[in-house]
Amino acid sequence: MTPRKVIIDCDPGQDDAVALFLAMSAPDELEVLGVTTVAGNVPLELTQRNARMMCDIAGRTDMRVYAGCDKPMKLEAITAEYIHGNTGIDGVDVFDPKTPLQDMHAVDYIIDTLRNAAKGTVTLIPTGPMTNIATAIQRDPAILDAVDRIVSMGGAMREGGNRSPSAEFNVLVDPHAADIVYNCGRPVTAVGLDVTHKVLSTRERVARIRGVGNKVAEATAGMLSFFHRYDTKKYGSEGAPLHDPCTVAWLLRPDLFETRVCNLSVETSSELTLGHTAVDFWHVTDRPHNVEWTYAVDAEGFYDLLVERLARFGG
Ligand code: RIB
Ligand code: CA
Repeated sequence: MTPRKVIIDCDPGQDDAVALFLAMSAPDELEVLGVTTVAGNVPLELTQRNARMMCDIAGRTDMRVYAGCDKPMKLEAITAEYIHGNTGIDGVDVFDPKTPLQDMHAVDYIIDTLRNAAKGTVTLIPTGPMTNIATAIQRDPAILDAVDRIVSMGGAMREGGNRSPSAEFNVLVDPHAADIVYNCGRPVTAVGLDVTHKVLSTRERVARIRGVGNKVAEATAGMLSFFHRYDTKKYGSEGAPLHDPCTVAWLLRPDLFETRVCNLSVETSSELTLGHTAVDFWHVTDRPHNVEWTYAVDAEGFYDLLVERLARFGG
C-alpha cells in the first residue's frame, strides 16, 4: 500500500507533539512530507523549536520543519502557556535540536509542495490555528487541486468552548483562517472537543505509555503528566484531553470514530461568540455540508493504538 502523503501543520504543544510521534510511527501508512509550524499555544519561535525537538526524539532529524505565520490573519495573537507551560512542551527537558529549521517560510513550502503534487495526493493535518494553510489557499487557490483531504483539530459542538465560553482555542485564535479552511471546497474532517474531551490521559493510560519503555514513550508520558496537571484542576476530569493525535488516529483507524457530514460555520465577527463553530448536526438549515464532523470515539481503542504505535520506535 502506498503511504498517504501528509503535511502536519502544528503549534506544539504537548498534544501536537504526540500527534507528530503518532504520524512518524507509521512510515508505511503515512509519508510525512514536512512539518509546518504556526504561532498558537506558544509563540512561533517556540513551536518551531518544539517541533524540531520531537523529530530529534523520534530519531527523524531528516524531517523538514518550517516556520510559518507568527500571528493570525487579522487578529492579535493569543497563547496558552497557562495550559502548556512556558516552553509549550513542559514535561520534557528542553534541548537545542539537531533537526534543522528550513529557510523557506511554511506558507511558501505548502504552496510549492502542492503546486508540484499530483491532483488529490496530499493530506493536510492542521492541529493548531489554521493561519498557514488559510494564507496559502488565499495566496494561490489552485493549490487545492492537490489536496486530498484536510483533517483538522478544532471547533466544538456540544462541548462548548475551552478558551472562551463558546470557542475552541485553535478556531478562536484565527477564526478567519478556520473559515477559509472549512469552506475551501475540499473534503474536511473536523475533529473537535466533542471527541477530544473523550480521550483523557488518565494516570492508568500514562502509566501504560511509560511502560512502553523507549525514549519516545518516555517523552510522551512526561508531557502528558504535565499536561494532565492543568486539566484535572480546571475540568475536574481525570487526565487531560489528548486533542491533536485524534487527527492522525482518524487517518490510521477511522473505525475508532463516528462522523456525520454536515455544515460547520465559524463566527468571525461577534465579540461575544467570536470563533464559535456552529455545527448543523441535525441538518436544520440548507447550509452546504462542508465537513465530516467527528462526534464519538472509542477512547480505549485510541489509547491501544497510541501505545502500540509508540512501541514501534526504537531506543
Ligand atoms: O483546543 C485544543 C487545541 O488548541 C489543541 O490543538 C491544542 O494543542 C491547542 O492548539
Ligand atoms: Ca495544537
